[in-house]
Amino acid sequence: SPVMPPDLSKCHDANSPGLGNNIKCCPPYTSADIVDYTFPETPLRVRRAAHLLINDSEYMEKYEEAVKKMKELPENHPWNFYQQARVHCAYCNEAYDQVGFPGVPVQVHNSWLFLPWHRYYLHFYERILGKLIDDNTFTLPFWNFDSDDGMTIPEFFTNDTSSPLYNANRDTSHYSPAIVDYKYSYDSTAGSGDTGNALVLANLCYMKKTFKQSLPLAELFMGDPLRAGQEADTTNGFGQLENIHNAVHMWVGTPTSPYIDMGDFSTAGKDCIFFSLHANVDRLWHIYRMFRGNKVEFTDTDWLDTTFIFYDENEQVVRVKVRDCLKPNKLRYTYEEVPIPWMNKLN
Ligand code: C2O
Repeated sequence: SPVMPPDLSKCHDANSPGLGNNIKCCPPYTSADIVDYTFPETPLRVRRAAHLLINDSEYMEKYEEAVKKMKELPENHPWNFYQQARVHCAYCNEAYDQVGFPGVPVQVHNSWLFLPWHRYYLHFYERILGKLIDDNTFTLPFWNFDSDDGMTIPEFFTNDTSSPLYNANRDTSHYSPAIVDYKYSYDSTAGSGDTGNALVLANLCYMKKTFKQSLPLAELFMGDPLRAGQEADTTNGFGQLENIHNAVHMWVGTPTSPYIDMGDFSTAGKDCIFFSLHANVDRLWHIYRMFRGNKVEFTDTDWLDTTFIFYDENEQVVRVKVRDCLKPNKLRYTYEEVPIPWMNKLN
């Protein structure tokens, strides 16, 4: 049967391999009613590529303003920036047990839940930001790290230390012009060993290979099945896209232990880059789906009926199912079309 949402009243300290086992990320508990989410009927929002937005000062001002407002909310407000980061921590660092399975954590990484959960997380986050600046067209920028020109950290996250988008807990040696390495890892002999144009090409080929291999078999791309009562397999459960995403997390996070913010799931949501990394991961899923002629990835109801809960833009606690997020259109957003350079790279 499908994984069910946690019992919010039973949140406990979270843990991470690197940061210990008494991490506080429980949201302030409310016994408010949980209702089924009413999907929006707002105009279609278009997420745009970060590296192409740098000169759009109108957009940049809005984005900074929205994040600033989110950071200024009272600390226990469900929309507060750090509170939102804790949502990620709670679902990723074992702050909840699965209902009916004491000791088995709710975990949205390392399985087929990875892409749907993060899609919803971004959806609500984006709409809350829009609400804070009263803009129902607001979108998160996507970090187009699968294109030649997008393989560096978007500069608006790095070029102004006083910006609300700035975060000091990163590997600054990876700021532009450093090129992201899809094979980077904290484990010793990390990385592809390439630099410059060779690294760009290695990344493009890796992306192409990922798609080519996994198009016939969704499990390879999306991650392994995870059903109620099961524990995610942290060494083999992730899909190939999640694997690339893990490398990008580590590549942005602090270079030495303890690895924060992007370098550890319990802290990753404290860096605005997180949401642009994930917007592109989500876009790559969207592209994967189109390449497959919109064929459903899994017809298994254990996947389709998996249920999550979030705070929506009306401060309501809502219940959502995987089956309802498979088409971004239903969530009223899409992606700006940009060239997909890896599509034609080699074989
Ligand atoms: Cu929940 Cu990028 O991770």
